[in-house]
Amino acid sequence: MKRRYAVVPGDGIGIDVTREAIKVLRAATAVEPVEIDLQTFDYGAERFLRTGETLPDEGLEEFRAADAVLMGAFGDPRVPDMRHARDILLGTRFLLDLYVNFRPVRCLDDRLCPLRGRTAKDVDFVVFRENTEGAYVGIGGIFKKGTADEIAIQEDVNTRKGVERILRAAFEYAQAHGRSRVTMADKSNALRFGHDLWQRAFAEVAVEYPGIEADHLYIDALAMQLIKDPARFEVIVTCNMFGDIVTDLGAQLQGGLGLAASGNLHPGGPAMFEPVHGSAPKYAGTDRANPFAAILTVAMMLEHTGLGPAARRIEDAVRACLAADECTRDLGGSLGTIAAGDAVARRIAAAGA
Ligand code: NAD
Ligand code: IPM
Ligand code: MN
Repeated sequence: MKRRYAVVPGDGIGIDVTREAIKVLRAATAVEPVEIDLQTFDYGAERFLRTGETLPDEGLEEFRAADAVLMGAFGDPRVPDMRHARDILLGTRFLLDLYVNFRPVRCLDDRLCPLRGRTAKDVDFVVFRENTEGAYVGIGGIFKKGTADEIAIQEDVNTRKGVERILRAAFEYAQAHGRSRVTMADKSNALRFGHDLWQRAFAEVAVEYPGIEADHLYIDALAMQLIKDPARFEVIVTCNMFGDIVTDLGAQLQGGLGLAASGNLHPGGPAMFEPVHGSAPKYAGTDRANPFAAILTVAMMLEHTGLGPAARRIEDAVRACLAADECTRDLGGSLGTIAAGDAVARRIAAAGA
């Protein structure tokens, strides 16, 4: 048995946390009869500044040929407009048509829950973020740039096909995982056209899933309810931009961005996995970043590519590390990035021994 993963550490702490995630991937698959082939790509700010290249066509072909892609994070103060990241990160999402951005929000330890009177069991939902449309498509332009008459237009694209397929993915997931409610969040009270389409498509798709409650909240109310009563949420489905925002909020309910994992999926097709956090330039190369989000992202990738037992080994080890305070400072521990990765790898090895 063989698995081939394309790895793109990217920029900033993306490099630091991906190194630990790979260390843990190796530890978790050591006892499996599987050969792991990792192919690392240096796409990121450094290469862009040196060569002008972002995501070459042959890179995308390699991603397509792999069992999955693992990315770290992108963003570098030397590329303030994020041009390279738009090509590499959004390019991968768009060109591989990874229309599901799957972002679970699960609190792994009571002590990590930031809400008064709540415990870990109150924070357990999944966000289905539309990942190929919305305000992210880059349609628009700037006219009379730099003048007092400047006009900037950024279109919000919502297609029937695009909206319907992410809604259906959310319901399918709910059905397959024993979840009883899907909450769709939009801003149809203000965005009359695009989000009217979301409303109509939601009503129609929901009829196909009579056993699942179809729940709706405006996105502003959803943000409030996430803090007030996170336990009411099981599956949330929303557009690209709102999904971006609520999953940073969700990350904090889990204990912080250092714990939030995500998958970019096309059911039945290719997939790319990345932590929710960015490149946190101030921590880059300082051994401060929390590698657990990247490590849990690797677990998600292993699960998705048929290596469930290895994924569970990782999750169990991370939980054990959290319970023993073997973690970085953002979670109240005292370990550096490398030591935190070592701690997870050590627990996996010990459990397998
Ligand atoms: P960020 O997620 O990089 O960091 C925000 C803050 O969260 C950090 O300052 C830090 O305090 C904390 N944090 C994040 N990840 C952490 C970790 N693993 N361990 C410990 N603390 C962590 O967001 P930002 O500061 O808004 O963006 C920095 C750069 O990253 C920007 O260029 C942005 O565009 C980019 N970005 C990239 C991605 C991606 O590549 N997927 C995602 C988000 C932001
Ligand atoms: C994320 C990030 C990206 C997004 C940025 C870096 C373009 O914030 O993956 O959450 O908005 O999708
Ligand atoms: Mn984001």
